[in-house]
Amino acid sequence: MKVEQDVHVREVGLRDGLQMVSTFFPTEEKMAWIAAECAAGVREIEVTSFVPVKLIAQFSDAEEVTRQALQIPGLTVMALAPNLKGAERAFSLGVHVVDYVVSVSRTHNLKNVRREREESLADFERIVSARNAAGLTGRVKLAAGLSTALGCSYEGRIAVDEVRRCAAFLAQAGAEEIMVADTVGYADPQQVREVFKSVMAEVGNIPVAAHFHDTRGTGLANVAAALDCGVRIFDASLGGLGGCPFAPGASGNIVMEDLCFMLDSMGLTTGVDLHQLLLVRDIAARNLPPNMLTGALARAGLPNHYTTAKQRAAPRS
Ligand code: COA
Ligand code: ZN
Repeated sequence: MKVEQDVHVREVGLRDGLQMVSTFFPTEEKMAWIAAECAAGVREIEVTSFVPVKLIAQFSDAEEVTRQALQIPGLTVMALAPNLKGAERAFSLGVHVVDYVVSVSRTHNLKNVRREREESLADFERIVSARNAAGLTGRVKLAAGLSTALGCSYEGRIAVDEVRRCAAFLAQAGAEEIMVADTVGYADPQQVREVFKSVMAEVGNIPVAAHFHDTRGTGLANVAAALDCGVRIFDASLGGLGGCPFAPGASGNIVMEDLCFMLDSMGLTTGVDLHQLLLVRDIAARNLPPNMLTGALARAGLPNHYTTAKQRAAPRS
């Protein structure tokens, strides 16, 4: 039986993290990471990116990783697609969720996907049509991400109104989720409240997810602010691996282990076993250059006498 959790945590390190790593992370080790993290309770994992191999060789095994991930019971398999061609590759395999991205910053969109933001928005409409024409409506979910929504290393601060307008367009076009991303880690909690409230008011019942980077130490404070707005879906990466090859100064996502600890401590269930999650780091670490993983929980350990949110919620016998 599937237990509904208070908060959905999603691992994005195999995409956001590995796109920054030039040494190839062997396919069987990617699968070991995915299987172990799923067993630890992270049931939504962005497993790869459908980009041209000559652009990011790390994802030359995108098809194989996806095929194998789809065999893991209980796992929601997500994958990034930056254009229609990427989405079609994902559709043909039956990925559960395709994550499409548009940058709110015009300059970042040009650098990242080599086209105007309006072209990227229009491409999303084509992706929705292609998904529907392939008979995959209701089987493949389309999530639309707004990159650089909280700041851009080329353009600086991004107007809330621009974020809201892009979100409205994507919702109207058929996005089944809107993901708001602080791609370069510029956001603060006050700004998070402003932007998320605006987007959530605009898109109505469509779930809004948060994707934070901890580049300047505001990552978990931003999570707390987003929780206050009612956000219940968060991206994070094991050991804080992450960044964007097309955004100068971008560094790691919020750390999955620290996120799960904070949520659990607050009494919000995630379904994740913290001890088991910490062990997954060994798989990532043995395939990466030294010292790439960060994380406070891994450094400090759980508090003495820690009881989990689930244990605290259980009625005493
Ligand atoms: N997967 C595989 N091949 C693809 C592809 C995809 N998603 N998209 C395009 N291609 C191929 C085309 O078929 C074409 O091949 P050909 O030269 O053999 O004819 C070639 O790549 C160029 O296609 P084009 O449409 O001109 O793409 P482009 O060179 O303008 O690049 C993107 C556009 C979107 C594919 C590229 O900029 C990209 O992948 N960006 C994503 C960057 C990223 O991952 N950022 C971090 C995450 S947000
Ligand atoms: Zn990111």
